This record gives sequence, structure tokens and C-alpha cells, in this order.
Amino acid sequence: MTKVFIKTFGCQMNVYDSERMAGVLGADDFEITGDEKSAEYVIINTCSVRQHAEDRALSYIGAAIKDKKVIVAGCMAERMQDELMAKFPRLHAVVGTFNFSNIVSAINRGKKKIFAGITEEKYPVKLRRNEKVRGYITIMQGCDNYCAYCIVPYVRGRERSRDVEGILAEIRQLASDGFKEVMFLGQNVNSFLDAKSGINFSGLLRKSAEISGIERLRFMTSHPKDLTDELIESIAAAPKVCKHIHLPLQSGSDRILKMMNRHYTADWYLSRVRKIREAMPGGAITTDILVGFPGETDVDFQQTLEVMKKAGFDASYIFKYSPRRGTKAALMDSQVDEKEKLKRLNNVLELQKKISEDITKAYVGREVKILVTGPNMVIKTMMEGITDNSKKVIIPGDTGMIGNFYRVKVTRAQTAVMEGEIIK
Ligand code: 5AD
Ligand code: SF4
Repeated sequence: MTKVFIKTFGCQMNVYDSERMAGVLGADDFEITGDEKSAEYVIINTCSVRQHAEDRALSYIGAAIKDKKVIVAGCMAERMQDELMAKFPRLHAVVGTFNFSNIVSAINRGKKKIFAGITEEKYPVKLRRNEKVRGYITIMQGCDNYCAYCIVPYVRGRERSRDVEGILAEIRQLASDGFKEVMFLGQNVNSFLDAKSGINFSGLLRKSAEISGIERLRFMTSHPKDLTDELIESIAAAPKVCKHIHLPLQSGSDRILKMMNRHYTADWYLSRVRKIREAMPGGAITTDILVGFPGETDVDFQQTLEVMKKAGFDASYIFKYSPRRGTKAALMDSQVDEKEKLKRLNNVLELQKKISEDITKAYVGREVKILVTGPNMVIKTMMEGITDNSKKVIIPGDTGMIGNFYRVKVTRAQTAVMEGEIIK
């Protein structure tokens, strides 16, 4: 059988797309291998959200192409189609983000760009999953929000929700494969709507919760503008739905939020935080912060720090603004100096570290329930699990514990990770 190795850059949606491609190839005459050296074909699934991600993929392609047949898929393939073909004449194929299900013909035909603006994507029910306990399911593709800095709407197309039946079939498959947790993915899951059945996001959560075997449901990302009180309440009331909301703030300055086209103010954002805290005591809120958007002054930046202090995020993903050709922000005046961006990035990192430390330290002595997901990457002799509100806890144990829930007493805490002992 022809061996294929898949390398994934970028977000969880890319991980899911790679699992989809692996599922399609596995159902055909291909063997997916974890050993790149033994593979005849290397598929590189790429990300375009920041220049850094593209640079890493470019150097990966450059190295792989020396002795492999290389196929570039994903966001960067979509964005740079001809540029990629010109830069790497030996590329076997380039596959766009609407065409993952055509991966077999990309390999068989070769020397072809596989692009078509079709929106009718086929999802194989049987994906080839990287994990055994927690499964990702993309429930909607694309984005209609056009945040001024973001390339996603251009490379992933308009927002479209999948049909509920297809999603439920995938959850049932996960349940029968022994998975315990499902994470729904989308750029803006709160606006999920299956046009055929009229089922919205709350409805999807309700139907999914009926599937036995799956004990936890998670989702990301929520857009603050679409996170209504009703939705927060329905998430809070659903027993299987984890009490963790990922809610990108991006900036705490109303002026910058407006320039970013985010459609909310810092006050609205903080009202969402208050509502979540009220409805889900003990729940977690995480965020994305973007520093150095064009025109961001020190005053704007200080406002971001203020909102972060008020919100008390459990964790933040913090990014330096990276201009993306074709987006509105790339053409804006007063791009922020690289050194200044780095300084702001470090300030935010430092503040978040303090906040996270305080939050995790408060867990010492408390009891939590974790789902064991696998061995810890750093201390290989310890097992690792996750709480309902997405805290990582490491405990002594063995691989036989994977996929089971345990009550654990937290004995130590660092910034992001806790250590604990099983309560017998
Ligand atoms: N530069 C830096 N970060 C970006 N993000 C999106 N576009 C850019 C960009 N051009 C960040 C946002 C988003 C996260 C997924 O990536 O914070 O929420
Ligand atoms: Fe990009 Fe904004 Fe859409 Fe998120 S909501 S994918 S940041 S355009």
C-alpha cells in the first residue's frame, strides 16, 4: 500500500481536516503512517493566520520536497495557489480548503491544482483520529465576520453550518469507538444553524447530549457579539456541556475594536463575562488577545490590560498582529513598530501569568474530577487529565487509566498545570 504522512500546522480545525483526509485516504488504497521517512507522499496541511505559520510551512515544504512527493493543502494552499506552484515546481499537488475530500484524486492525478469553489463538502463518517478519548468535530466552516486583521473569511469562505444528522452520526461513531468527550469546532459556533432542520446551536447541544457514551461536550470559538444571555443560560443548564467558554477579546479599546470590525465594546464584553460567572460559578473563561493592531496607542493597549484584569481570564492566547495581504488592516496607516509589538506581547504574557497562577493556586487542597487523556509529555511516568473547566491535572498512574474519570485532590499548582492524587 502507498504510504502517506500528514503534517498539520495551525488550529484544531486543521487537525480535524487532516483526520478527514486520513479517513478518506484510509478508505481507499493508502496507508497513513506516523513515520515520515517511510512515506512516499507527504501532505502538508497549512495555516495562514499569521506570517510565522506560513514561514514554518514553507521551510517544511522546502525540506520535504527533496525526497518526497509533496502535496500542500489547507489555508496557505488556498491563499497562494500559483505562488506555491511557481516557488516549488516539483510540488505534486496543491489542494484548496473546499476540496479535502478530493485528496485521493490529488494524489492519483498529481501535478494539478485541485480547486473548486464548491461548498458541498463530503464528510466521511469514519475519520482517522489522532486521539482516543477526545474527538474534534467541525460543525461549521468559514466565517462571515470579516474582522479587519483576519484572513480566514478569504481562505475558508463564507460561513456555513453542517447538517445536524451528519454531526450526530459522527458523534455516535466516536461513542462506539470509546471516546468520552467531543469538542465542536467553528469560527463562530454560536451562530450555528442547520437550515434544513432549523436546529440552532442550543438545539445541537441538546441532541448531542442524548447520545450515550459521550460524557462531555465542548465547543469553540464563541464570538462575543453572538453570545446572548439565553445561550449562556442554556449552556449552563446542560449537564454534559463543559463550563468553559473561549471568548476572544482581541482588544480592550473601543476605538481599536471598532477598527477591527468586532461589533462589540469593552463594556459589552465585560457584561458577557459577568453573565458567564453568574450562570456558571467555577466555570472558566479563556481568550485571544491581539497586540499591535495598526494605530494601537499605548492608551489603547493599557485598556486591554485593564479589561484583562477585570475579566480575570483563566488563560489567554496572545498574538502579535501580523499583516495579511488582502485584509483591510494590512492597508491601514500607522502600523505598529515590531519592537513595540514585542514589548506589548511580553506585558500581556506577564499579566496573564500572574492571573493564571492565582487561579490555579487556589485549587490546591480542592477536589476535581478529571478525564485521563494520556501520559504527560514532560514527565512521561505521570498521566494527564482534564477537568470540566479545561484545567490540566497530572497524577501518578499508568496507561490503563486512559479514558476513565477520576476524583482527584489537587496537591500542587503551577501557572497552567496542577498535580494531584486520586481519591480512593
Ligand atoms: N495576526 C495575528 N493574530 C491573528 N489572529 C487572527 N488574525 C491574526 C493576524 N493577522 C488571531 C486572533 C484570532 C486567533 C485565532 O488568531 O486573535 O482570535
Ligand atoms: Fe477571523 Fe474574526 Fe472570523 Fe474569527 S471571527 S475567523 S477573527 S474574521
